Amino acid sequence: MLVVENLSVNYGKISALREVSLSAKRGCITVVLGSNGAGKSSLLKAITGQIPSEAGSVTFDGQPILGMPAHRIVALGLTLVPDGRELFPRMTVLENLLLGASAGRSKNSRADLDEIFDFFPVLARKRSTLAHGLSGGEQQMLAFGRAIMSKPTMLLLDEPTIGLAPLIERELIDRVLMLARDLDIGILLVEQNATLALGIGDSGIVLEQGEISMRGLASEMAASDRIKQAYLGM
Ligand SMILES: Nc1ncnc2c1ncn2[C@@H]1O[C@H](COP(=O)(O)OP(=O)(O)OP(=O)(O)O)[C@@H](O)[C@H]1O
Ligand SMILES: [Mg+2]
Repeated sequence: MLVVENLSVNYGKISALREVSLSAKRGCITVVLGSNGAGKSSLLKAITGQIPSEAGSVTFDGQPILGMPAHRIVALGLTLVPDGRELFPRMTVLENLLLGASAGRSKNSRADLDEIFDFFPVLARKRSTLAHGLSGGEQQMLAFGRAIMSKPTMLLLDEPTIGLAPLIERELIDRVLMLARDLDIGILLVEQNATLALGIGDSGIVLEQGEISMRGLASEMAASDRIKQAYLGM
């Protein structure tokens, strides 16, 4: 379980997050909504040690992790899938997956590969294809697959459906739900598509200019007039 308390992040004089608190559980999907520049990516990066925090605390399975180097946080089972996917474009699908294994806690990458190929059959079919030759949806599945190779118990997903066609978006979001329900992975999901995200989410928060302006069950949020107006285009 992930517990974030009063987390604040600054970039020089710019305050990106102010006293943000949230918790996320294994097997559950916690949705983070917010407009451009609200601080969503900063939140995920601060939790996973990619950027420093000004104040606050973050514990993962009871252990304080703020200030720990990013690779040690991955080794504890907490993995970020960044918004740009950050694949190695000139490496094959298989090579990208094996790099994920070396980043994390995986001891038996053969068995882990089989699990990922079961979960994402397209990656098995295209194991020898270079990453830049994959479609956008396939690249995102590869980014998920690579993250799963590090044997996470919690995944932080930064706008996984960005740039994808609606049908592919739906398929990808269904995979996120399967990650939580079938693999019992906790998910902290930053999404632009609030309808899709709240549809699979258990609970959620809204970030506005670096502060949490709303939190609740995903079903309550989907029914809220404020959310409908701001994020669901209704
Ligand atoms: N490296 C940086 N240096 C300075 N300011 C930054 C940096 N990264 C982000 N910011 C600022 O911090 C604030 C939060 O940015 P962040 O990227 O976390 O927002 P976001 O909610 O992820 O936005 P988006 O929806 O566009 O991805 C913004 O005002 C942004 O301009
Ligand atoms: Mg962002």
